[in-house]
Amino acid sequence: MSGRSTAVAHSNIALIKYWGKVDSRLAIPATSSVSLTLDAYRTETTVEWGNDRDSVVLDGDPLSGVPADRVSRFLDLVRDLSGRSEYASVVSRNTVPTAAGLASSASGFAALAAAATSAAGLSLSPRELSILARKGSGSASRSIFGGLAVWYAGTDDASSYAEPLHDPGLDLAMVVAVVNAGTKEISSRDAMRLTADTSPYYDAWVSSSRVDFAGMLEAVAAGDFTRVGELAESNAMRMHASMLGSTPPVSYWEPDSVRCLRLVRELRAAGTECYATMDAGPNVKVLCRRPDVASVSAAVGSLGVAGVTTSLPGPGVRVTEAP
Ligand code: DP6
Repeated sequence: MSGRSTAVAHSNIALIKYWGKVDSRLAIPATSSVSLTLDAYRTETTVEWGNDRDSVVLDGDPLSGVPADRVSRFLDLVRDLSGRSEYASVVSRNTVPTAAGLASSASGFAALAAAATSAAGLSLSPRELSILARKGSGSASRSIFGGLAVWYAGTDDASSYAEPLHDPGLDLAMVVAVVNAGTKEISSRDAMRLTADTSPYYDAWVSSSRVDFAGMLEAVAAGDFTRVGELAESNAMRMHASMLGSTPPVSYWEPDSVRCLRLVRELRAAGTECYATMDAGPNVKVLCRRPDVASVSAAVGSLGVAGVTTSLPGPGVRVTEAP
């Protein structure tokens, strides 16, 4: 029996990072994390069951090798859940150019989880969908939800899930300095494993991130933008510090990343409250308030980086076409 669905999910940027797993197979993270889903970056995925094999097309190109296998392993989970045995065709499009370096596995696996389960006739709760998406890519667990989301590390499959994080009206926006849109030298998956296995700073990262996480929940609940920004920036810097301690060292930073980080400090000193965060790549994401988006993006643009995009909080995953 065939079934076809389409789903749309948006990317998210962590304000308290996920970096390291205690269980790789189930993607149980070492620490809980907090993220902001963005409206500017989205993935739209159509899944149709009843194919003669699993096939994946991303932005018009057929995938093969490891990325295609990763999707197939994920579809195995949906086959297990639904009792189906047939293969699926997956067609996925990132509406912001993959070239922006921001079309992440988060929006990809969140959209895939929603489309594949819907097409298989399953009706999962948002929490169940988050648990499933997590097993495709950890950060995808958070892209099930719009705005701020919290992913509780948990201790097993059922207790490691994301949910919306209520805030009493925080004004949040993000300016992204695209420093380099090219492919990264080492994936976040491999880099976090290397950090956990070899960095003497990894345990310190885990313990300090737990403290940051508790502080972030308090800051969000209090609607304290300054505290949210300070914690996001220091948490990101500590994650990168833990990577630098790996053997071999991992660094995603490029000269323009450092220039952006410096600019953010200067803008702050001049009275514009903004804070920087970075993920597994050289791009710098600047958290600011909505009224400051124009001035922050103009300042970032004046550095002559490869590109600047702006984003407001985005929505959670939604199914746009169902059988
Ligand atoms: C730096 O979710 O891509 O963006 O679970 O192995 O697929 P896997 O990793 P992934 O890692 C994201 C790491 C990060 C921080 C974050 O998003 O929390």
